[in-house]
Amino acid sequence: MTCNSDDYSALEPSISGRIMELHHKNHHSTYVNSFNNFSAQLGELQSSSSSSSSPDSIAQQIALQPLINFHGGGHINHSLFWENLAPKGSGGGEPPSGKLGKEIEATFGGVENLKKVMNTKLAGIQGSGWAWLVKDKETGGVGVRTYAVSSAVWDLGGRRETLLLMMDAESRSGRWAVCAAAGD
Ligand SMILES: [Fe+2]
Repeated sequence: MTCNSDDYSALEPSISGRIMELHHKNHHSTYVNSFNNFSAQLGELQSSSSSSSSPDSIAQQIALQPLINFHGGGHINHSLFWENLAPKGSGGGEPPSGKLGKEIEATFGGVENLKKVMNTKLAGIQGSGWAWLVKDKETGGVGVRTYAVSSAVWDLGGRRETLLLMMDAESRSGRWAVCAAAGD
């Protein structure tokens, strides 16, 4: 499933088409529209030759940066999310195997326990957020990190970690969470 797909039911019965449609059309699109909106405002402030360096303009430009980061990060995370989802029969729906499967077994005691760890950690986040299974590039070990939605993939441990799997949790309209495996 890609960001442009309209086959929202492709992952049923694991993930309902209704959730995926809401997630894509309402949730993700809000990040995209808001990022575009705030970026345009910043561009207007910066291109105003008469006032772009005034204290008021600088203050407004600074105030826009966290909003751009928040919505841009949400867009990047969701883009990764859509691009790495696949239904059974197209490479998805199977538990991790090979080296990753062994590492999950050694670290968490299996996939079911990994799910519990991710769910528990996500429950501690207010609002919406992400839980990521990551691999330490130096040790090869895996771990779970949780982030607010504004965090983007490039934040991962100063790039010392690689994102393996992501879970997106949303609680503003009732708690639900969906998972996607990311490329290594
Ligand atoms: Fe989301």
